[in-house]
Amino acid sequence: MNNILLIFFCFFIFKQTLGDEIRTSMIINNCNLCHTDTSDNVKNIPYLKNLEKDYFLSKMYSYKKEKENSVMKRILIPLNELDIIEMADYLYGED
Ligand code: HEC
Repeated sequence: MNNILLIFFCFFIFKQTLGDEIRTSMIINNCNLCHTDTSDNVKNIPYLKNLEKDYFLSKMYSYKKEKENSVMKRILIPLNELDIIEMADYLYGED
């Protein structure tokens, strides 16, 4: 009985992580509509993978906090700080 519970529990955790990863990759897909690898030439819209993790995080937090209405501010409305961290881990790896 305990073994069955354990297997179920592992499956649940695995499913959870996998779900988060799919969700994060979907969010990043949306970002990449503007932040393409060719948009690198456009001022201020770099390909996200080419940024530094710390720079990415600080930019995202400042967009989240800023008061003015901007493109990035509006994009970040449905995303919280955990989403931002998950995106950073997805793009630049965990450390
Ligand atoms: C509609 C197009 C569009 C989408 C979609 C978009 N961005 Fe942006 N992004 C911009 C523009 C325009 C700027 C530069 C303007 C500014 O700094 O306010 C920018 C700037 C940034 C910067 C700062 C770049 C730098 O070099 O300073 C980061 C980081 C960023 N976006 C991340 C994201 C993430 C993560 C997503 C997805 C959740 C996303 N963007 C989706 C248009 C977009």
